[in-house]
Amino acid sequence: MKKIIIINGPNLNLLGKREPNIYGSLTFTEFYDTVKEKYPNVALEYFQSNIEGELIDKIQESGFSYDGIVLNAAAYTHTSIGIGDAVKAIETPVIEVHISNTFGREEFRHQSYISANAKGVILGFGLQSYELAIQSFI
Ligand code: DQA
Repeated sequence: MKKIIIINGPNLNLLGKREPNIYGSLTFTEFYDTVKEKYPNVALEYFQSNIEGELIDKIQESGFSYDGIVLNAAAYTHTSIGIGDAVKAIETPVIEVHISNTFGREEFRHQSYISANAKGVILGFGLQSYELAIQSFI
């Protein structure tokens, strides 16, 4: 059974009520429950933190034993050399995902410290971006 973890960064705990015109009106838990049901043969886990260091800890912790990491580092994507370095340091392949098409938004969202060391990048498909990433691992 493939072991895959979804790691979500800051403010993604507010999905459902945060700027629904951009991020949709589903909570992440609602979405996660349907994905878990749809892929019963995947050992799927979920972690969210608003704290940069906790995200780095989780990447390190899962980065040598899991089959895949689906990472939406949210705003830290555009600022965090530390998260970028963590992705580079581990063995588990990381798919960078974003709900919105960051290239269609403000200039500061065009920069990513993760992409260069990710296996791939999926963005702009709403919450489906996560599902496409999971599918790519299985
Ligand atoms: C995001 C895009 C980021 O620019 C933003 O800071 C987020 C969410 C997305 O999933 O579209 O918090 O990662």
